[in-house]
Amino acid sequence: MAELAYQRCIHPHCGATVDLMDTSFQCPKCGGLLDVAYEWDKLPVPKTLKHFESKWANRNHPLDFSGVWRFRELFPFAPDEKILTIGEGQTLCQRADLVGQYAGMKPGNTYLQYEGMNPSGSFKDNGMTAAFTHAIMTGARRAACASTGNTSASLAIYCAATQKMRAVVFIGSGKISYGKLSQALEHNALTLQIAGDFDDALRRVQEVSRQLGIYLVNSINPFRLEGQKSVMLRVLEALNWEVPDWIVVPGGNLGNSSAFGKAFTELLELGLIKKAPKIAIINAAGADTFYQLYEKQGVRWNAGRPDGGKIDGYMKYLDDADKRADTLASAIEINRPVNLPKALRALERCGGCVREVTDTEMLDAKAKIGAGGLGCEPASAASVAGLLKLVREGVISPDERAVCILTAHLLKDPTATVAYHSADQKTFDDVLGKRGVKRASFANRAVQVPNQLDAIVQAIEVYA
Ligand code: F0G
Repeated sequence: MAELAYQRCIHPHCGATVDLMDTSFQCPKCGGLLDVAYEWDKLPVPKTLKHFESKWANRNHPLDFSGVWRFRELFPFAPDEKILTIGEGQTLCQRADLVGQYAGMKPGNTYLQYEGMNPSGSFKDNGMTAAFTHAIMTGARRAACASTGNTSASLAIYCAATQKMRAVVFIGSGKISYGKLSQALEHNALTLQIAGDFDDALRRVQEVSRQLGIYLVNSINPFRLEGQKSVMLRVLEALNWEVPDWIVVPGGNLGNSSAFGKAFTELLELGLIKKAPKIAIINAAGADTFYQLYEKQGVRWNAGRPDGGKIDGYMKYLDDADKRADTLASAIEINRPVNLPKALRALERCGGCVREVTDTEMLDAKAKIGAGGLGCEPASAASVAGLLKLVREGVISPDERAVCILTAHLLKDPTATVAYHSADQKTFDDVLGKRGVKRASFANRAVQVPNQLDAIVQAIEVYA
């Protein structure tokens, strides 16, 4: 099967191909990003998406149980016996009318795709199982990533659960939440805290991986994105194979948006869907490179020749001004998204737009998501904050159907949540106030009561 899958430069005018087993993840001819590509006409592709329902009856087969690998016919780069799964992708696409009402949508039209249910608590496991499988196929013994926390947690648990590889994680000092740092440490990853932020760590990990021949699992790795395509397949599955009008997704390194665009492009090419949803990519206002380039400077994929001058010019401006990403949504605190060209391509193929939301908007949306029954971390809530903004602008109609991706679990970053709901002004100021958040509109404050039965009973009668 392997020779029917290979790697290919994403730029059509270059089109260089690279062996499936190559681990440099860079086009040798033009330096561009790579895709995993397939000889679809020689592969057994299902005729309809309903075909995947047959997997549900086979849940004691680990590959059919996995919410990623049960769709493996749509990313057939690994023979079954090489695939490594830890049961990832058992996630949920929930109709969310309360959240929809907050965003201004009509009942029944808002869904939340909750990726916090993955083994490491974030969407990263969808891609990690795929990259990890490829790593094993290539004979790797060590794998590395730079991370704002979730990638490192995911890599650490795959290494710990399989004992097949040693995890080396690079994190920016002081830029990682305790929830995520605790996972890297607990699951026994070699954890390097480098003086700098995520953008610095990502540059370093690429250098070091090249020098030491360590397998890189950041989303520059195209196999990660193959696994992440399954998030969209599960969305379609949950919607009875109907394509929604919009997918709304937070944008950090732009791996998800790129993977989603590739998934829908392939499904269209294979005749498995008739139209693609539009994709709305939501940046944090403090880390809004993609918003600036796409919406303000009009940079487009342009059939594989995006305006490199504008992109380089913006990166130079960031360097010259020493402008660092700065948002409470630490997971998307990224100013140099590595998958930028692939995300441009996704927007060209599917249509859509890019928006930015403030920390306050994300935290308010997060509280509404929580009150509706699903808990996510601040970066994830960018999707719902973005939906609200786009409905207000009239870009998304309340009559359309939108799926917001909740990328990770609430308990990934409890500090921001507790500070938001805190009755103690100092706690609020220390965590949120000093980062520019002025108010918590939907705070659910703890009620202080003396240790007396009467007072407790009275408090409950008054407040509940
Ligand atoms: N949401 C969460 C919770 C994340 O952890 C990340 C990325 C994103 C969104 C952004 O996703 O890169 O696909 O646009 N976290 C990375 C990490 C960078 O290291 O864990 P993207």
